[in-house]
Amino acid sequence: MAFLDEIEPLKQAALAELRAAPDLAALEHARVNYLGSHGKFTALMKQLGTLTKEEKPAAGKAINIAKTEMEAALVERRTELELKAAQPREPTDFTLPGRRRALGKLHPLTQITEDIVRSFRKIGFAVADGPEVEDEYHCFDALNTPADHPARDTQDTFYLAAESAGSAAESSIQNPPRSQLLLRTHTSSVQIRVMQKQQPPVRIIVPGRVYRRDNADATHNPTFHQVEGLYVDRNVTVGDLKGTVEFVFKELMGAETRIRFRPHYFSYTEPSFEIDFSSSLTRKMGKEWLEIAGCGMVHPQVFENVGYDPEVWSGWAFGFGIERIAMIRYGINDIRLFYENDVRFLRQF
Ligand code: DAH
Repeated sequence: MAFLDEIEPLKQAALAELRAAPDLAALEHARVNYLGSHGKFTALMKQLGTLTKEEKPAAGKAINIAKTEMEAALVERRTELELKAAQPREPTDFTLPGRRRALGKLHPLTQITEDIVRSFRKIGFAVADGPEVEDEYHCFDALNTPADHPARDTQDTFYLAAESAGSAAESSIQNPPRSQLLLRTHTSSVQIRVMQKQQPPVRIIVPGRVYRRDNADATHNPTFHQVEGLYVDRNVTVGDLKGTVEFVFKELMGAETRIRFRPHYFSYTEPSFEIDFSSSLTRKMGKEWLEIAGCGMVHPQVFENVGYDPEVWSGWAFGFGIERIAMIRYGINDIRLFYENDVRFLRQF
């Protein structure tokens, strides 16, 4: 075949292959196949030297034109393929709504606890903490709870198999040598721990988890939460107690909230009271008054137990359940809802 006649079919074949290359690797393969140093077209160019003087100009021109055309096709296809490679695999739909970031929330019990803490902080109370695994001494004995008190019955308290080792070393007079370990049944144990550590004045609240051997039902759960309060100073009165409780409950349950004290018995306070409150919330539940907390003036024996002189110091204490506050405030009729972690429930707060 004449030299000039070979150019056109080879160029057509090269253009077809370059234009049809499905990806950059195939394109490179096609380039090497025709235009590489051992390529088919390069081989043809090398034959130029074998032509006669007369044939050379026309052949050289034809070859250059063909080469330029192939190189243009190569660049064009490369640009196309690079653009394709840079595109997302899935097409973007700019009309789709944005992705919402799921925001977390505090559990309703945490929210209520923070509300309670905030109110007490306003009037100078600090938050104190104590262990949930307690010993009998701090949970009962030091609180003047006699050995035959029903609260100490195994029906109510989770006792641990192990015995306390540390309490004897802690304070030889105040702690009996061996005090059985238990899960605290109330936050009142922290009153003792705080008073053992610091001298009056004391102004603390203690939010925390407590444990009782109760079967779960609409109003009971083996674990729940309490807030304890303790105020010790000179000349503290029931009036201070009532004013403080009233302030906090008005903040928590609304400004029209009223409270009343009813005489009661607790071993660690004397006199002792139960606190009832009344508001639109209690009336919604069909009752004028609802019992909400226990309180009283700290028993002199409790002060003796921690080494405070009851002739010098006086004080009051209270304790109430956080779940109960939350249930009344939000109209929740089953305590178990707090622990099931059903987001349909939790999302409402
Ligand atoms: N500890 C009591 C309970 O669990 C509540 C309580 C009553 C706490 C009277 C007190 C108090 O500090 O003075 O039911």
